Amino acid sequence: MKILITGGLGFIGSNFIHYILDENPEVNIVNLDGMTYAGNPENLKSIESNPRYKFVKGNICNYELVDYVLKTHHITHIVHFAAESHVDRSISNPDIFIETNIRGTLTLLNAAKANNIQKFVQVSTDEVYGSLSFDDPAFTEENQLCPRSPYSSSKTAADLLVLSYVHTYKLPAVITRCSNNYGAYQFPEKLIPLMIRNIQMEKKLPVYGDGTNIRDWIHVMDHCRGIYATLMKGKVGEVYNFGGNAEVSNINMVKFLLKELGKGEDLITFVKDRPGHDVRYAMNFSKAEKELGWTPKYKFEDGMRETIQWYLSNQDWVDNVTSGDYLDYYKKQYNSEK
Ligand code: NAD
Ligand code: TYD
Repeated sequence: MKILITGGLGFIGSNFIHYILDENPEVNIVNLDGMTYAGNPENLKSIESNPRYKFVKGNICNYELVDYVLKTHHITHIVHFAAESHVDRSISNPDIFIETNIRGTLTLLNAAKANNIQKFVQVSTDEVYGSLSFDDPAFTEENQLCPRSPYSSSKTAADLLVLSYVHTYKLPAVITRCSNNYGAYQFPEKLIPLMIRNIQMEKKLPVYGDGTNIRDWIHVMDHCRGIYATLMKGKVGEVYNFGGNAEVSNINMVKFLLKELGKGEDLITFVKDRPGHDVRYAMNFSKAEKELGWTPKYKFEDGMRETIQWYLSNQDWVDNVTSGDYLDYYKKQYNSEK
């Protein structure tokens, strides 16, 4: 099995590469990544010289490059992670989200079609379903698609293109949709690593709005197992939801982190809400349990403690990835108190 992974230098892609190389000795990987601010070679340093791993720097929107990589490496499967992934950035600069998440996916689909790829896994998100109220039932795969941010709209468009290629060209593709991931190697613009970093530095903790918005949190390794199960057993044209069974409000998440790190709640600062902020996400993943034999293994508190420990022990990694444009960006966007 020769797999093209796109976006393998990012948070989930790099965890997936570590996971699959350990899990399956028959697998060879080519990682195509454009090395945006979110792609960090340090994430895969320990496997750089593994003969079953190759890295290609490049843009998924470049058809000639993608086609060349598929042909020269005799790729049989594609797992597509590469994306612009941060909702806040999609609000301030939507264009790149359209380019990478829609045009990039279309380019990969065309190249997959031309090269008779055996399976194409589109890694998508619960955010395509929109937003739940506090007492709605969790999202199932049957929910209407109702994206509400430029990020989730671009992911929805990509998912629909994938399904159209299944229908029109019989492309053997399948879609995974997952809730918010936590774990090692997450870029510290997302809630958990951002808050851990700020707590360590005793900086203010910017909670959007009143902090009651709820996310379901899944350990990244549980997500990776779900993607692997989909790659091996997922049925063409199907969608599979994955979740962590851990709905937590943002304010409770921040208080949990403060307690674990032994710091006081006076660091919490309520700031201007994110425009169009989705209220709640929750996932019904009974289809994945039934059809793929998958279930999340991590208990939230255990996974979170392990994750906090990882960030504390990898301060160099955090300093390295946050040394670029990110801090300026962050200061401009979210430093205003309510
Ligand atoms: P990330 O932002 O950490 O990583 C994205 C990677 O894609 C980076 O390595 C980046 O360099 C690469 N990339 C971006 N544009 C590219 C381009 N044009 N060409 C080639 N490479 C490019 O993202 P993540 O959090 O690891 O998310 C991975 C996937 O999982 C995304 O598709 C995202 O929508 C989806 N997802 C994420 C979460 C989450 O909680 N993070 C939850 C559900 C689904
Ligand atoms: P985030 O990690 O950006 O993921 P997503 O928007 O894809 O769910 O945000 C998780 C939640 O935390 C979301 O409701 C927004 C909120 N949030 C804050 O309150 N403060 C912050 O500084 C960040 C980054 C997020």
